[in-house]
Amino acid sequence: MQPTPIGIDALAFAGPAHFLEMTDLAAARGVDPGKYLHGLGQKQMAIATPCEDTVTMAAEAGRRALEAFDIDPAQIGTLIVGTETGVDHSKPVAVYVHELLGLARNCRTFETKHACYGAMAGLTSSADWIAAGRARGRKALVIASDIARYGLNTPGEPTQGAGAVAMVVADRPRLLEIDRARCGDYTRQVMDFWRPLYSKYAFADGHYSIQCYLDALEGAWHDAADGDPEALASDRLAACLYHVPFVKMARKAHQKLLEIEHGDAAATDQTEARARLDASFAGKVAPWLELNATVGNIYTGSLFLALIDLLRHGRADLEGRELSLFSYGSGCGATFCLGRVAEGASRHAAALDPQPQLDVRRRLDIAAYERIMDLSEDVDTVPELDPASYGLDGGGLYYVGTREHVRRYARA
Ligand code: HMG
Repeated sequence: MQPTPIGIDALAFAGPAHFLEMTDLAAARGVDPGKYLHGLGQKQMAIATPCEDTVTMAAEAGRRALEAFDIDPAQIGTLIVGTETGVDHSKPVAVYVHELLGLARNCRTFETKHACYGAMAGLTSSADWIAAGRARGRKALVIASDIARYGLNTPGEPTQGAGAVAMVVADRPRLLEIDRARCGDYTRQVMDFWRPLYSKYAFADGHYSIQCYLDALEGAWHDAADGDPEALASDRLAACLYHVPFVKMARKAHQKLLEIEHGDAAATDQTEARARLDASFAGKVAPWLELNATVGNIYTGSLFLALIDLLRHGRADLEGRELSLFSYGSGCGATFCLGRVAEGASRHAAALDPQPQLDVRRRLDIAAYERIMDLSEDVDTVPELDPASYGLDGGGLYYVGTREHVRRYARA
């Protein structure tokens, strides 16, 4: 008898109300725009004002996922927020979200941290929670929420972004089944990217981090293959989804994947390897990178933003087809796994498409962007913040300042 499928039953994105054009950033930094647009593959990046934080984005994404997929908050038995940009060293973002979404008192609630890997950890452990029989018919809500900040005039600056992805994990999921038997893991202590307790900004050894990511892909892939590489053969997969710190990284990752499968390009015919990469990348990776290119790196949610992009196409021909997912968190930890697009998933394309939100984002000029970056430095100790001063007056939930060491949230 086949085990009951478990996986992603609902998905939603929420992000900041403002963005920066990469061409504006390139002009301000005296960089050829081709570097950001083609070298990194980024078009725009979402910028969070001081009133938008990990909590507000997570709560909004969670609300959208529950409402768009008609899920009663009482059905949620586990809430996990994966983040590396939490708002407190002790108190989890998840417990704020628990209250804001009106979840049940007996819903277990916690935060996971391992750089960009936290949400994949939440997804796989939620699937295990259901498979183990602990859920008793309930569902898990896993939310990835982050603000990626490297600081002004740093090499990482063009790879910033902000946003949250919420996923409801359940049995007989409407969107994506996770193949728990084909999940491979990888861990290694490396200093490729980190953010010490005293810093608002991440430190990255950028080029080394790319190598660590690729090594982790190879390690996790071998673990998932478990001696049977044919089981993972990308030829028969409908799509290959990766953690996307910037769009070009997905191409580097896919090149690595094909090298793992077919042997190093140096040891094979270079022209043939290049043609294979171009064709495979164009069919299985590139079509689902538009959201990543316009939102930027959202850390824990980046892989799942690519999944939203795939599902929002509403392609009935993808139903029943398998795809791969690779999550990488610096430091580092990774999982490579297979999933299967659920029958009927294409019917939910409009419900999970964030395009209407993205269409009403406002463009920042460089001066406004730099002011926001400066103001964000001290935002945790400012007693009073006015969302309207950032043009945030659409009825959303915002961070409005900290008094007597207590963070306060309110609807504008
Ligand atoms: P850099 O040194 O500024 O850029 O850093 P570069 O010189 O390497 O150039 C980038 C690409 O642009 C190159 O292409 C250039 O050739 C090309 P590639 O050789 O890589 O294919 N280029 C141009 N293309 C067209 N026209 C031009 C032009 N000029 C150059 N005129 C770097 C880039 C990504 C390292 C930097 O932005 C950085 O440090 N970013 C942050 C770290 C990062 O994103 N690492 C990714 C892997 S680790 C990860 O994914 C985890 C992470 O998400 C964190 C977490 O887990 O929490 C970061």
